[in-house]
Amino acid sequence: FDVVDLIRTKRDGGVLSDDEIRWLIDAYTAGTVGDEQMAAMAMAIFFHGLDARELPTWTTAMIETGERMDFSSLSRPTADKHSTGGVGDKITLPLAPIVAACGVAVPQLSGRGLGHTGGTLDKLEAIPGWRADLDNAAMLRQLEEVGAVICAAGSGLAPADKKLYALRDVTGTVEAIPLIASSIMSKKIAEGTGALVLDVKTGAGAFMKTRERSAELARTMVELGTAAGVTTVALVTAMDAPLGRSAGNAVEVAESVEVLAGGGPADVVELTLALAAEMLAAAGVDADPAAALASGRAMDTWRAMIRAQGGDPDAPLPTPKHVEVVTAPASGVIQSLDALAVGVAAWRLGAGRARKEDPVQDAAGVTWTAGVGDTVTQGQPLFELHTDTPERIDRAREALADAVVIGADAAEPGPVVLERIA
Ligand code: URA
Repeated sequence: FDVVDLIRTKRDGGVLSDDEIRWLIDAYTAGTVGDEQMAAMAMAIFFHGLDARELPTWTTAMIETGERMDFSSLSRPTADKHSTGGVGDKITLPLAPIVAACGVAVPQLSGRGLGHTGGTLDKLEAIPGWRADLDNAAMLRQLEEVGAVICAAGSGLAPADKKLYALRDVTGTVEAIPLIASSIMSKKIAEGTGALVLDVKTGAGAFMKTRERSAELARTMVELGTAAGVTTVALVTAMDAPLGRSAGNAVEVAESVEVLAGGGPADVVELTLALAAEMLAAAGVDADPAAALASGRAMDTWRAMIRAQGGDPDAPLPTPKHVEVVTAPASGVIQSLDALAVGVAAWRLGAGRARKEDPVQDAAGVTWTAGVGDTVTQGQPLFELHTDTPERIDRAREALADAVVIGADAAEPGPVVLERIA
C-alpha cells in the first residue's frame, strides 16, 4: 500500500479496508510510516471518524502489535476499572481492595498523571516503600494471593498506541472519539481482563466537557469491549466539582484510607460503591461491596496489597514543607466548586507534571473543607495548599481565585452517576 493514498482516502471522507488498516498500524509501529504521515492520518480521522467496521479493526490491529496478558490460570474471575480522568479521582485506591475482598481478582494497570488530572501511580508512590513496577509473574502471584494489584502497565501492551498517543498529544488530535476509544480499549483488551467497568467523566474538570460527547465515548468503548468478548459497562459520572475533599498525591491516599476505614466524603464513597457493584455484576459475582467495606475486609486487603508491593501501610505519609490557607471570600452557601481550577492548583503546587519526565512531589496538593451546598463564613479556612516549593504558591492561588462561587441560595451537590451504558 501507499500511505499517501490511504491518507488521501481518509482526508476525502472515504473508508479504509481491513488490510489497509492492519498494514498502516504495523508499518507505523515498525517505523516505515513516518510520524508526519500518521499525524496527517490522525487529523483526517479527527474530521471524518472511523466507521463501525474500521474502528474494531483499528483497535485489534493496535492490540496485535504487542503482547496479550492471560489471567485464565487464576482461580477467580477478573474485573478492571478505567477512568477517563478527573480531579480528586482517587477511586481506584479504595475500589480495588473492596472488589478483591468480594472474591474478584482486580488487575489494575495504571498510569502516571500528565496535566491537571493526577495519576494513580503517582498517588500510591507517596506511600513509603511502595513500588509500581511488577513483572507479569509477580502480578499474577499477587492477584492469586491478595486479589488486587495496582501497578504500571508494561510497555509490551499495544506499543502502537504508545507511539500514536504521544504523537496525538503534540498534533492536536487527542480529542477524537474513535482515537480515544481505540487507545483505551486496545490496552484494556490486551490486558486480558474478563470484565471492564468504564468511568467516563463529564464536565468542567473532564477531558470531555459535554454529557453528549461523554455518552458517545462511553457507547463506543462499550461496543469495542463487548465485540472483543470483554463484559463491558460504562458509567457516565459528573466531573464539574472535584471528587471528595482532596486533590494531589499523599492527600488522596489519606482520603482513600479514610474511606476504607468506613468514613470519607460521601461522593467518593458513593462512586466507589457504584463502580464496585458494576464490577462484581460484570464478573458474575454476587456480593455486597458495602459489607466488604463495613466489615474491615476491604481494609485488610488494602494493607496486604500495599505490603505486597513493598509499601508500609502504617508509615506516616509525607508531609509538605509549606502549607498555606486560602479563606472563604464571602459568607453564604457554596453554589459551585470548579474541578478544573482545583486540578490546576494541585498541579502547580507540584502534584502533577508538565512533561512526562518531570518528578512529582509526594506531599503536594490541595485540600478543602467544604463542598457544594455547604455554608461557609467569610474568612474561614476553605482551601489548604500543600507544597515543598513555596514559590509555587502564588500561581496556585491564582488558579483558585474564581474556583468557588458563594451565594445566598440553598444548593445541593448534583448526582454523581449520571447514566449507565451497557
Ligand atoms: N487515555 C488514553 O489512554 N488514550 C487516549 O486517547 C485518551 C486518554
